[in-house]
Amino acid sequence: MKHFVSENVHDQAIIDVVFEASQGAMKAIETHGEDNVVNGVFGAYFREKGGLLTFDSIYRTFDKIEDFHKARYAASISGAPEFQKGIRHWLFESAGLEVPCEIVATPGGTGALSSTVKNALSPGDTVIHPDIGWGPYKTIALQHGMDIEHYTLFEGDRFNLDSFKSVCKKVMDKQGKVLVFINDPCQNPTGYTMLASEWDELLDYVNELSDKGPVILLHDIAYIDFTHLGNDYKKHFERYKHMRENVLSVIAFSASKTMTAYGMRIGAQVMISNNETELSRFKNACANTARGVWSTVNNGGMRLFSELALNPEVKEAYMKEKGEYLELLRERAKIFIQEAKESGLPIYPYKEGFFVTLRIDNAAVKNALHLALKEHNIFFVNVYGGLRVAICSIPKAKLCGLAKRVKAVYDDVLEKHS
Ligand SMILES: Cc1ncc(COP(=O)(O)O)c(C=O)c1O
Repeated sequence: MKHFVSENVHDQAIIDVVFEASQGAMKAIETHGEDNVVNGVFGAYFREKGGLLTFDSIYRTFDKIEDFHKARYAASISGAPEFQKGIRHWLFESAGLEVPCEIVATPGGTGALSSTVKNALSPGDTVIHPDIGWGPYKTIALQHGMDIEHYTLFEGDRFNLDSFKSVCKKVMDKQGKVLVFINDPCQNPTGYTMLASEWDELLDYVNELSDKGPVILLHDIAYIDFTHLGNDYKKHFERYKHMRENVLSVIAFSASKTMTAYGMRIGAQVMISNNETELSRFKNACANTARGVWSTVNNGGMRLFSELALNPEVKEAYMKEKGEYLELLRERAKIFIQEAKESGLPIYPYKEGFFVTLRIDNAAVKNALHLALKEHNIFFVNVYGGLRVAICSIPKAKLCGLAKRVKAVYDDVLEKHS
């Protein structure tokens, strides 16, 4: 029998764990009142007094952009020229680097990830993800009819390079080509940021592996503007320009968190390789995807990003404003993590960023804890290997005492499962 929907598409109803959990939190707020509910679901930054954070330095600049620029199509399918210039400046030149690259503007980081997957592999191929990672990675793979292999992200509190190597080797032996995801810094959902030495070892291995076939390293930097390392983090992009010819590095940039502009849908694929012919073919394929899937990216949003990147006054105001919220995030993390340590609540090795994740390997215990916490009006997101706590959206007053409360519920759940 023929259906409206094609046999080859992923047609299951979307169960988005974040939106599902947030509905529960909203209902609880209606019934019990805002003050009595901990909503640690949303991956967007919320102010201490509630309400989505919107940077004044960004939105007052947006107000000044002429209607004409907001209304028009972008001047190029690959993104407005000043946007491309802005991306180069933001990621490389502002950190004193010069990295030759190709750029295609995308609707958010999601567009950059999806287009890279689509153009690097064919349906039926295998893409490699971390086992603990952003949920939609899986949806993106399924969109393009791909299978997934996972590397184990941690060995104790360190990046598990052995697992990364063995999974990449297995896939290379099977399909003669590798596409592997890394989300760093401020990883979602754990808040881990890889050490420079871990990156060095990883890139050495990627080089070695590329002797057997092409390696596409997809580096998702969605939270790059929330690392305390600042421009120092960007220094490692320099290494991308010295990779062997059979390596393509694709940086997936998102302006969602950088500009607190989640709905504006601004992002970019930044592609670096020493094989110019192959790089150019890949860029062309991605530009064709843009034309055939979303056309051009929001021109007003691109204009806004280029103002931020290239106008020193706007950048200075932004850095000051963002600096305050970076500090607030650090304070929130300190409260939760200190109490988690004191009370013995297990967490993954958090360094910085929007999320902390409770480390619960036993899936039955994890699911039971997730449900039990809801009974206490505490809402987190159920992820692989744990429960994600969005400290970006929980004010300090609610974080005080939270880890201890969660630990008490966890102890009850463990007792029932023993
Ligand atoms: C790890 C990670 N990558 C990519 C994205 C994509 O963000 P957007 O498509 O809004 O730019 C997100 C958004 O939450 C994320 O958490």
